[in-house]
Amino acid sequence: MSSKVIEELKNNLKIVNSQEKLENIKAKYLGKKGIITLAFKELGKLAHEKRKERGVFLQKEKKQAENLFLQKKEEITKKLKKEKTFVDITLPGKKFSLGHIHPLSQVFKQSQEIFEKMGFLVVEGPELEIEWYNFDALNFPKDHPAREMQDTLWVKEKGKLMRTHTSPVQVRYMEKNSPPFRIIVPGVTFRNEATDASHEVQFNQLECLMVDKEVSVVDFKAIIQNFFDQLFERKVKVRLRPGFFPFTEPSFEIDIQDKKGNWLECMGAGMVHPKVLENSGVDPQKWQGFAFGFGADRMAMIKFGINDIRLFYSSDLRFLNQF
Ligand code: PHE
Repeated sequence: MSSKVIEELKNNLKIVNSQEKLENIKAKYLGKKGIITLAFKELGKLAHEKRKERGVFLQKEKKQAENLFLQKKEEITKKLKKEKTFVDITLPGKKFSLGHIHPLSQVFKQSQEIFEKMGFLVVEGPELEIEWYNFDALNFPKDHPAREMQDTLWVKEKGKLMRTHTSPVQVRYMEKNSPPFRIIVPGVTFRNEATDASHEVQFNQLECLMVDKEVSVVDFKAIIQNFFDQLFERKVKVRLRPGFFPFTEPSFEIDIQDKKGNWLECMGAGMVHPKVLENSGVDPQKWQGFAFGFGADRMAMIKFGINDIRLFYSSDLRFLNQF
């Protein structure tokens, strides 16, 4: 229990908000003529037996008062400090740096815009695939080397794998929809590769499929020419070479010419194999079309003049800030 004096002091301190006012009150209690100081002086007037008891009481009261003043002093100092940082308008402001779109995403985004303008729909498919969609439905023979351990990342569950290309989405889409088709499939793909300047275990592809009554290689050439010209913002020289894919017939390798005149291989393509249409529930007697797929990483490397695919995945701001 605290004394009446202390209770009163506590009340008085409640409204004190500056060191100056605190000093004034302190003087009233502990100063030369302060309440507590004077009470000590009165001790002499008391009878001997009472004096000791009163003395102990006053000592305690004094100690309590001193502690209260100390506490209040700290409280005020703290509060002032806080207010000071809050209103300090001379401190330098915080700089916020703006982020921007990753070069790979830029290529995806721009490609999508170009194809959407030509009436293509953007479609997605699963990254964890089953053997049927990744290989069988696409007419890969059972003993095709791409199925082997060196190329494909198989998961523990039998018959499941990380898709090695975006082509399985052709079949998935055709199965569920009726022709004509005009789709593109941007997405991540996986191969069991040793990583070097032009190979990564995980990379990105963009697949394109167009099926209609009379789609031919002429349409294919016109569409990719238009696409390359817009993506690279110049007239691009394009070359078709014979190639082989089990799911297209005939198949082509597409090269484009860089600014220095070098031919760079950049996509696989061909007319959709009748077997693939059949496997997807589309009548090859009535419908035909082309498909192609390109490595988006490769395309971004050509567009921005980057010589190492690993840079895309390095998260190095010195690299990323250049695009
Ligand atoms: N899927 C093939 C690859 O990854 C590319 C391709 C797509 C070829 C479509 C022809 C048609 O190499």
